[in-house]
Formats: sequence, C-alpha cells, structure tokens
Amino acid sequence: MHIVSIVGARPNFVKIAPIARACCGMEGVRHTLIHTGQHYDRAMSDSFFDVLGIPEPDVNLNVGSGSHGVQTGKVMIAIEPVLQELQPDWVVTVGDVNSTAAAALVAVKLGLKTVHVEAGLRSFDRTMPEEINRLVTDAISDELFVTEQAALDNLKNEGVADEIVHFTGNVMIDSLVHALPKVEAAQAWKSFGLEKGSYVLVTLHRPSNVDQRESLEGLVHALSDISKRTPVLFPAHPRTKARLEEFGLLAMFTESGRVHLTAPQDYQSFLSLVTGARAMLTDSGGIQEETTYLGIPCITLRPNTERPSTINLGTNELVTPEYKPVMEAFGRIASGSWKEGTVPPLWDGKAAERIVRILGELDGQGR
Ligand code: UD1
Repeated sequence: MHIVSIVGARPNFVKIAPIARACCGMEGVRHTLIHTGQHYDRAMSDSFFDVLGIPEPDVNLNVGSGSHGVQTGKVMIAIEPVLQELQPDWVVTVGDVNSTAAAALVAVKLGLKTVHVEAGLRSFDRTMPEEINRLVTDAISDELFVTEQAALDNLKNEGVADEIVHFTGNVMIDSLVHALPKVEAAQAWKSFGLEKGSYVLVTLHRPSNVDQRESLEGLVHALSDISKRTPVLFPAHPRTKARLEEFGLLAMFTESGRVHLTAPQDYQSFLSLVTGARAMLTDSGGIQEETTYLGIPCITLRPNTERPSTINLGTNELVTPEYKPVMEAFGRIASGSWKEGTVPPLWDGKAAERIVRILGELDGQGR
C-alpha cells in the first residue's frame, strides 16, 4: 500500500509526524511525503522536521507565501504532476491550511482516494480561511478521520455517510505524547531566566487579531499590564512581528520590561514552555488541544472555536480579544479560580496507528 502525505504549514508537521512513523512501522506500507513549502523559514519549518523526526520530504514544491488565491493555486499547479506520477493508493491531508484544501482538490480530481485527518471540525465562521479549507476538504474526501464528538455531530448534520467517518483520536496529541519525556527534561523556561509556573505564554497570528492596529494595540496593552504581575513570554509568528513593528507597538513591551518577545520556537522547546506556564494566551487551533491535554489554563482570543471539547471537557475558554475581557480572564487564573479539565476520549497517543491500520483494512476491501 502506497500512502502519500501532504504537509505545508507548521501545524501540519506536528500532525503528520506520527502518521509517517506509523507507516514506517507497518509492514507493506510505503510512505511518500510532499512538502508544499507554504511555511519555509527555518523556525517555521525545518526545525519542526528535525525535532519531530519527520523524514526529509521526498518532494518540496517551494510555493512560499502569497494571497490565498495565489498560494492555493500555486500548490494545485505544482502538486498535480507529482500526484499523477506517483499514483498512490491513498493521499492523506491533515488540518485546515491552504495546502490541505489545494492538495485534496487536485487529488480527488485525479481520481485518487483521498483522506482528511482532523475532519468535521467547524467554527461556523466563514470569515476564517481555515473554515473554508475544512468545509472544502471534508466535502470532497473519500474517508474522514475525526478527533472529537463535535466533529462526528457536524458531519452527521451535514449528511455525510457514517461508513466514511472514523473516530480515531487526535494525531496532534500523538506527537505530544511521543515528545513528552524530552519536553519535560528540556525545561526551556530556564533559558529565558524564568521559573516553572511563574509566567504567561502567548502566541498570536490570526489576521483578525494582528492585522488591524486597533485590535493588536488592545491586546498589546493587556499583555503589557499582565506583565506587571506575571512575566510574559511571546514567541511571535513572522506576520505578528511585522505588524508590531509596522504599528509602532514594540515600545509598549520595552516600557514594561517584562514581556520577552522571541522568535518562533521549535516544537520541543515550545511544548516545554507550555508545560512550565502558569497560563496560555493564544489564537491558535492546536494549542487549545495541547493545553487541554496538559491541564494548563488556556485563554483563547477568538469569538469561536472549532474544537469545543477543549471547552466542554478541557481547560480552554473563549475570551473576546479586547483589553477588558482579557484582563478579567487573567484575573481569574491569577486568583486560582480557573476550571480543572479532563482529557477527551481517544486522545491517547495512538490515533495515527489506528488511521494507518484502517487505511490498510479499507485498501484490502478495495475501497
Ligand atoms: C497558516 C495557516 C493557519 C495556521 C498557521 C500556523 C492558512 C490559511 N493558515 O497561517 O491556519 O494556524 O499557518 O502558523 O493556511 N511567513 C514567513 N515565513 C514563513 C511563513 C510565513 O515569514 O515560513 C509570513 C509571510 O509574511 C506570510 C505570512 O507569514 O505572508 C503568512 O503566512 P501564511 O502561510 O500565508 O499563513 P499563516 O498566517 O502562517
């Protein structure tokens, strides 16, 4: 059985690592990895391959950045001849980035059997590019692998046939479970002169939070005030760094003196920083799941989430990304009144093995 996996952006790397490992460990499975090159900086891409132990991509399409149309179109143009040549038994896409939807569209039109891992998640917010990518990829894929109950419910409501939906758990948590021994030993907070449990960790990159001066300024103001009580560590996505500079907001951090603005971290260092944090402030998708698994309080700076189990079961809460609500939520964490969480079902480190095993069974049945 020949499986081709597609990766493009940072969260994809984390999700594909356990799938690549499971393919390696299964007899009769050949795995080919295609990197679209959507993320290309060392800190955003190569360092993840190193730390996660992902094999070198067999093909790199080097598409780089661009508007959504340009980026999606470039992936489609570049990947078509590669998939046509390879003719795999399965094309595996993960997550919700532009590379995911672009690859699925091409694979399906070539008549290749196409799989979406992390299917069925819905924020019901069509202004998010990721929501469009999720809807498109799910609508056209042949087999759907899901991480949580809400995704099963969403697919049912959309009329998707039960037999193509497989509840296998969460490959992002597979990576986390695999990395945990090294993550715990790393104590990455020490290199920033911080103590375990004494700082707030922040990531921000969503266009709705960082691309408008007013929105970003409110959040920077909140971080600056939080840092007067608790040091803030902020590994900034290149987009966010550029906006902070463009809007002249870096001075607010310098004045407070307790906001450590750093480059994006590699996977292991970042997770180590999560395990040592008093709390997480983020607008990411995957970090909501990682903090839930680790039991770290998470303030998600978004009006909605496609991952509701992190709220219903986990340690996550949605907070309006404005000064006042952020300060109020942080106050509840500082006073120790944040909720305790539990780990959602099947987030046990074995999702990728289940997925590859099911693909083998389906292949055997001629599906
Ligand atoms: C993408 C995903 C988002 C995911 C995020 C994780 C889409 C629609 N969005 O958003 O879901 O949460 O990745 O990081 O696919 N840039 C660099 N170096 C890089 C990559 C990007 O400098 O290696 C800069 C460029 O200026 C680029 C901008 O970041 O224009 C945005 O990159 P892009 O890949 O378009 O989207 P992300 O915001 O990273």
